[in-house]
Amino acid sequence: MARIVGAVTTSHVPSIGIAMDQRLTEEPYWKPLFDGYERAKEIAAALAPDVTIVVYNDHGLEVFLDRVPTFGIGAAAEYRPGDEAWGPRPIPPFQGDPALSWHLIEHLTAQHFDLTMYQELSVDHGFTVPMSVFFGDRNGQTDAWPTRVVPVTVNTIQFPLPQPARCYALGQAIRRAVEAYPEDLRVLIMGTGGMSHQLQGERAGFMMPPFDRMFLKALRDDPLALTRIPLGDYMKGAGHEGAELIMWLVARGAIDEAAREIYQHYHVSASLTAAGLTCYAAE
Ligand code: DHB
Ligand code: FE
Repeated sequence: MARIVGAVTTSHVPSIGIAMDQRLTEEPYWKPLFDGYERAKEIAAALAPDVTIVVYNDHGLEVFLDRVPTFGIGAAAEYRPGDEAWGPRPIPPFQGDPALSWHLIEHLTAQHFDLTMYQELSVDHGFTVPMSVFFGDRNGQTDAWPTRVVPVTVNTIQFPLPQPARCYALGQAIRRAVEAYPEDLRVLIMGTGGMSHQLQGERAGFMMPPFDRMFLKALRDDPLALTRIPLGDYMKGAGHEGAELIMWLVARGAIDEAAREIYQHYHVSASLTAAGLTCYAAE
């Protein structure tokens, strides 16, 4: 039987990818952030997933405002890093697991989660930066990713966004679907985005460490409390793009409420974002 071995979460700021690709991780601005990633890489390696379900939002590479699936899932054999105007990141493509993807699609639909299916999908910083953070070397690089992937997309760009409780419930449904897969697979779930940040409007540059600390503590001790906070309060408290934290709730929903936090890292700021990271063991 397949099982979820852990849940990890991290912010997905594009400039973290640029810092890695341009080998800037020892520069004074970046060093404290990247020092905090070292332990996370050890944990990800020890969890040794066969497959990683990466919960992220597309920022206009594949999904534009004319058509925005609330939830989507990749079913491709390969996912290439896309060109977000800086050229594609110089990292290898990600190998998919179409058999697991189709199993998840069927099982989630049976549980009334009807996800848009992508049989072709290139992935943006929302996906590639977290993968580099957990599975790349100090500079986010690798010759070959040590895990296959299944991308899961969440709409965080166009109103209305899915509610926090719905995202947590999606995580719970993903767990049930994984546990119904007959093959012995170690599956990691990765939630991306957040923490507090706002990129636009009068509050561009807004960050709110007290909100982030509250969220990190509740994620560990009482994740259901986070599902009762209305989405609008995430935006007021953590900024518009801080609402990306709903993707952390998908990951957290896929493991026990009582699951153990192994590691946490928080750094203000990376670009316009308060950057957070957590690692949970499923058992
Ligand atoms: C930044 C953060 C994001 O989450 C994003 O998608 C784009 C930019 C930033 O802080 O620069
Ligand atoms: Fe983002």
